[in-house]
Amino acid sequence: MGEKNSASVARTAAVVTVSDRAAAGVYEDATGPAVSALLVGRGYEVVRALVVPDERAEIESALVHAAERDVALVVTCGGTGLSPRDVTPEATAAVCERMVPGIGEAMRAASMCVTSRACLSRATAGIRGRTLIVNLPGSPRAATENLEAVIDPIGHGLDTLRGGPMSCAR
Ligand code: MTE
Repeated sequence: MGEKNSASVARTAAVVTVSDRAAAGVYEDATGPAVSALLVGRGYEVVRALVVPDERAEIESALVHAAERDVALVVTCGGTGLSPRDVTPEATAAVCERMVPGIGEAMRAASMCVTSRACLSRATAGIRGRTLIVNLPGSPRAATENLEAVIDPIGHGLDTLRGGPMSCAR
């Protein structure tokens, strides 16, 4: 059941693809564009999209940079699994002041209906300043399936985070 997007606060977004191979040009990033398209379709203005390697410092710098520019929502794609190079959740936690664990829990719960491998995503979410940061898995399909599961409550979260309508009544 979709909830109406009655946004009264900024709906700006940045998409950060985290992938060694995409950053090195081994292949073209398909996930960032797919996630951007989903966000635009849900009323977001995607103000920045970039690709960084699976390096904590570079991920953290991209997240901090977006928060400094007061982007409302930052979505990362990739680096949430168990590979030794997967450090996106750690980079996210390092730059956030408050965590929002329910977003990752909800994505995993919804995705377990699609594939039992969904439990292998360590995706998390948190807040830096007035910016909500949400991790997604790396494949285009996994990323969009996960984002679809939480895009409605994210809109409400941004309203409360950024001083819009405070009521949680439905
Ligand atoms: N969630 C959905 N909806 N669909 C998927 O195909 N793939 C899973 C999981 N979440 C998947 C999914 C797999 S196989 C992994 S390893 C983890 O996401 C982490 O993906 P990442 O390492 O690309 O971040």
